[in-house]
Amino acid sequence: MSKQVLILPGDGIGPEIVAEARKVLEHVNSHFKLDLTLCDGLLGGAAIDAEGVPLPAATLALAKESAAILLGAVGGPQWDNIERDLRPEKGLLQIRSALELFGNLRPAMLYPQLADASSLKPELVAGLDILIVRELTGGIYFGEPRGIRTLENGEREGFNTYKYSESEIERIARLAFEAASKRSGRLCSVDKANVLEATVLWREVVERVSADYPDVELSHMYVDNAAMQLVKAPKQFDVIVTGNMFGDILSDAAAMLTGSIGMLPSASLDRDGRGMYEPCHGSAPDIAGQGIANPLATILSVAMMLRYSLAAPEAAQAIEDAVSTVLDAGLRTPDLYTEGSQRVGTREMGEAVLAALPQ
Ligand code: IPM
Ligand code: MG
Repeated sequence: MSKQVLILPGDGIGPEIVAEARKVLEHVNSHFKLDLTLCDGLLGGAAIDAEGVPLPAATLALAKESAAILLGAVGGPQWDNIERDLRPEKGLLQIRSALELFGNLRPAMLYPQLADASSLKPELVAGLDILIVRELTGGIYFGEPRGIRTLENGEREGFNTYKYSESEIERIARLAFEAASKRSGRLCSVDKANVLEATVLWREVVERVSADYPDVELSHMYVDNAAMQLVKAPKQFDVIVTGNMFGDILSDAAAMLTGSIGMLPSASLDRDGRGMYEPCHGSAPDIAGQGIANPLATILSVAMMLRYSLAAPEAAQAIEDAVSTVLDAGLRTPDLYTEGSQRVGTREMGEAVLAALPQ
C-alpha cells in the first residue's frame, strides 16, 4: 500500500532546500519502487500569509494521515512583530506537540572531507560521530504557566515553567538507551541537577531506566560543563540525552563541530516511529532567495526519514553515499567553502547528489 509523505517547505531558505531534497526523494521513490505519494502543505510564515495561522487545520490533518513529514524551516523577520501565539515558530511547536514527536534525534557527524571546514582543529574533530537525543515536546518550551505579566509596582515580568513528569523523562530516556545500545554503548545524560529540581528528577529517572540497559554505560554531566566539553574534547561523547532547551542549544554547538550547521539532519519521532524530518538549521532569511543555501542537511533528513519511518534503509544508504561522493568531488556551498574546493549553489549541489545516486 502506498505511503504518504507530507512536504512542508516553510519559509526563508526552506522552499529552496526542500526543492532539492524533493528531487532526491522522487528519484529514490521510483528507483527503489518505494510506492510513496508526496503531498504538500503550509506551515509557519507561509501558512500565516495564506491562512492567517501558522499551523492550519488542513496541514495538521494531512500530517496525521502521513507516514512521514519533510520540513524545510520556519520563521523570518517579516513575522517578528505579530502576536506571539501566531508566530511561525509557534506552528512548528504546535505540530511537534500535536503529533507527540517527543524524540528528537540530531546526529552530528563529521564527513572526513570537511575536517578543515570545522572551526576546531582537525585532530579534535576527525572521526566525530555524536548523537544528541533531545526531548522535544516538554520542558520549558511547553510548561505552563507562562507569559508576560504586569506586577503591582507596574513593572512587567516574563515567566516560564520548567517541568518534566516521570513518564516524559522515562520515554526519552528509553529512546536514548536503545540508540546507545545500537552504537558504542555510551550514554551521557545532560542536566542542571545542581540547581534545577526538574532535572534532579530527570537524573533520578534516567538512573532508574538504566537498570534495564546493563550493556549501556551511563554518565551524567551538568549542561554548562557539557557545552565546554563539546568544544574542548567532543569525541568523548557518543549519545547525549537531554531536555528540550538544553538540547536546542547543545545541538547548535555540536553542529558547528561538523563544519557547518548546513550539514545536520534531524528526526522527530513519536512512540511508533512516525516522524517529522528537518534540517537542524533555521530559515536563514539573510540568504533566502539567493540560491546559495546548503541543501545537504535536508537531503540527509530524507535519508533519516527513509531509514526510521519508511523502512527503506537501502535508499537511505544510497543518499548518504551520494552526499559523500559529491563532497569527495570537492563541491562546496559557501558555508563549507575552503580554498581549493569548488563553490556551488543550492541547485548545483542538489543536482550533483541526484547524479551520484544509482540511476
Ligand atoms: C530547532 C529550532 C526551533 C527550536 C525553533 C525554530 C522554534 O531552533 O529546531 O532547534 O527551538 O526548537
Ligand atoms: Mg535550535
